[in-house]
Amino acid sequence: MLGATRSLLPGMIGVWLACIATFAQDAIKTQPGKTLTVGFSQIGAESAWRTAETESMRSEAAKRGVNLKFSDAQQKQENQIKAIRAFIAQKVDAIILAPVVETGWEPVLREARKAGIPVVLVDRGVKVSDESLYATLIASDFVEEGRLAARWLAEKLSGQGNIVELQGTPGSAPALDRKKGFEEVLAEHPGLKIIKSQSGDFTRAKGKEVMEAFLKAEGKNIQAVYAHNDDMALGAIQAIEAAGLAPGKDILLVSIDGVRAAFEAMIAGKLNCTVECNPLLGPPAFDAVEKIVAGQTLPKWIKVTDQVFDQSVAPDVIESRKY
Ligand code: AHR
Repeated sequence: MLGATRSLLPGMIGVWLACIATFAQDAIKTQPGKTLTVGFSQIGAESAWRTAETESMRSEAAKRGVNLKFSDAQQKQENQIKAIRAFIAQKVDAIILAPVVETGWEPVLREARKAGIPVVLVDRGVKVSDESLYATLIASDFVEEGRLAARWLAEKLSGQGNIVELQGTPGSAPALDRKKGFEEVLAEHPGLKIIKSQSGDFTRAKGKEVMEAFLKAEGKNIQAVYAHNDDMALGAIQAIEAAGLAPGKDILLVSIDGVRAAFEAMIAGKLNCTVECNPLLGPPAFDAVEKIVAGQTLPKWIKVTDQVFDQSVAPDVIESRKY
């Protein structure tokens, strides 16, 4: 009998220790500031940039032990609004939102505020009458990205030429701001004209489709493509090749993002320039959440800085690229 108890003892001690460990963990989880639960409403997976941003959020949450509730809106604002309402119902500690378009957020942001849940905007901004509806925006300066793309192109074309523009998602901050910045610089160069401009929705497939239509309408009248992201430029490259022209030579291409495939296209001589827009927003986003939950007030815009890369530097830089 005594022998049997003795042989059971190590197993029982193991079970007790496991129980104590579980209780201890639960106790830590329920202590404020220990295990954060954060809802992240993502736009979708329209581009390589977007996928890199999602990955950055997921891996940073895992690294910090944050319980991340992820929702993919498949490009629809209504899905993002539903996700935010679900996060509020689940009483998350904070919400991270990458808003697909700029307008229409005020009611749901008010609901989050009423529930005492801070909202951190990442990548894209919103237009609201009351800026206190969100804690901070962590994003690049899209207007400046447009200016950088235009300056690079103006120099390459010596201030003369016809440009076609592939715009991003209608109503989105990057589409509006990248257009604005580009046109601002173009105003200084009367010889440069945008002869066609249409949305390619930030996707490679749409970029190709719209470029095919531009080529049909304008043919050899096009000297350059300005694409609001790399994916659309990569689609345009396919359309240009299918039309029997040489992308990067017969038609110059400048785009925005700086994804790996853009560097590969530059090395292949098919894309001329990309303006970086850093998607690795996980670390600054969770830094912001932790500070806000700890009671700190953050600046309304935490600016992400970007650089311009063209064919001349692409081979030296490609290996150091992280997305
Ligand atoms: O908001 C950032 C933009 O959205 C990126 O430039 C684009 O690739 C993405 O889909």
